[in-house]
Amino acid sequence: MLENYIKSGYPAVAVLSPEENRVVAECRRIAERYGMHLAQWSSSKHLQMLHVNKKALAGLGGMFDFKIKAPDPVEALKKAAQLPTNTIYCLLDYHPYWRSPDVWRTAKDTFQEMKRRGIVFVFISAQMDIPVELAREIVMTTIPFPRREELEAVIHHVAQAAGVAPPENITAVADAALGLTISEAENAFALSLVTSGNFDPPVIMKEKEQIILKSGVLEIIGHDLDMSAVGGLSQLKQWLRTRVSAFSPEAQAYGLPFPRGVLLVGVPGCGKSLSAKALASEWQKPLLRLDAGRLFSSFVGETEANTRRALAVAEAVSPVVLWIDEIEKGLAGVQSSNRTDSGVTARVFGHFLTWMQEKTSPVFVVATANDISQLPPEFLRKGRFDEIFFVDLPDEQERRQVIAAQLRRRKRDPEQFAVDELAKATEGFSGAEIEEAVVLGMFHAWSDNRREVTAADILEAARTIIPMSESEMTRERIIALREWGRQAARLANGAGA
Ligand SMILES: Nc1ncnc2c1ncn2[C@@H]1O[C@H](COP(=O)(O)OP(=O)(O)OP(=O)(O)O)[C@@H](O)[C@H]1O
Ligand SMILES: [Mg+2]
Repeated sequence: MLENYIKSGYPAVAVLSPEENRVVAECRRIAERYGMHLAQWSSSKHLQMLHVNKKALAGLGGMFDFKIKAPDPVEALKKAAQLPTNTIYCLLDYHPYWRSPDVWRTAKDTFQEMKRRGIVFVFISAQMDIPVELAREIVMTTIPFPRREELEAVIHHVAQAAGVAPPENITAVADAALGLTISEAENAFALSLVTSGNFDPPVIMKEKEQIILKSGVLEIIGHDLDMSAVGGLSQLKQWLRTRVSAFSPEAQAYGLPFPRGVLLVGVPGCGKSLSAKALASEWQKPLLRLDAGRLFSSFVGETEANTRRALAVAEAVSPVVLWIDEIEKGLAGVQSSNRTDSGVTARVFGHFLTWMQEKTSPVFVVATANDISQLPPEFLRKGRFDEIFFVDLPDEQERRQVIAAQLRRRKRDPEQFAVDELAKATEGFSGAEIEEAVVLGMFHAWSDNRREVTAADILEAARTIIPMSESEMTRERIIALREWGRQAARLANGAGA
């Protein structure tokens, strides 16, 4: 990405990354590849040339003065004029200076002029709060997390420093660290060496979970239910199965594109979240949950960094299922964004859409929503998701399957229960309400001398539950949702296996 931006003549790129050294190294690689020079500015060391392409410089007749004085942030921008043409100019930790009007005015004046001279500004810092005035001139990006081979090199390094042999299962150890920065990985490896005496993938995974959790928006979810735990929704299940198989090496060789993902909209408690978990289990891939509400409600400057980091983590640990639960909560502010938060929400949203469209790593997005009125129309347009499914209340046949699935989950044989009768008695129930009836029935039997639960207990319990679909408040909403679902989405429900 960074390479594309530099090559395609953007005047300024902001790279959000805690790994300054890796970004500079990447810039150096790009500079060498395209015969460019590399310069760097920081508040402590001021302006330095890091790499000079001698051939290109010879063309300038040796007129170049390497000692450029740029003691302050405004000068740092202005002195770009003295750099040789075709230079990548890295500015480290520049973000605190954006607040100064002098800085952004100078930036505005300088960027376009420098672009003509082939000078690309690359701002590198872990956080970035670009003023609205410059949002159009600076493109934001991030560098991918270290790849497996880079992590393997780190493992060799750590092993050597600790005086132990590199682990035999080095690939598994590196895999466990995918999604961490180099220094985070070093720490996780060191921790593993201290606590368990070797490079232990589970210890490293645990540490990674902690680090990912600390980022505040992502969570690795454990899951053990496969698709058979989902009753009904057979259209959705079938679709998911065929799509996910497109991630296989065979499908890739065949030339199928990676699926983008699916949006599940529907009645609460009918299996949207459950399907996301079941899919990850069935696919035997990690499940990353992205908290859309948290993503968007944090500090303005961080929102953007959070999003990018979250998506980069997902790419690093891919193949993975990225589950964005209750996405409408994060997107509610998109329409009013220009008025309320100087466009940050809209920009983050735009970035997400672009990422959805252009991502090339096997990240399968499962987004869920209850309220479509909160979703921006662009989001629902064809081509963003591979498919939008509407998840309705289960009909009688589906309720039979949900009841059976719930009983099996509690180690009961559905054959021993009058499932047909139960399905008839739970008209209008959501999957969650059926679960509630089963659990209540079991409690009832348990408290009655711990005897075995029967269909009668569950029937009894079901009578005490008033389903949401019958409450005044929610009935209207469900009707409206259904109306929308019929027109704009594909039906997830359907009889069958
Ligand atoms: N189709 C189903 N088959 C089996 N169990 C189900 C089904 N739907 C819901 N359940 C049960 O209800 C619980 C809650 O469902 P889930 O969290 O998937 O609902 P949801 O559609 O995500 O609801 P919400 O919109 O409130 O997030 C599940 O953990 C599961 O036990
Ligand atoms: Mg849910």
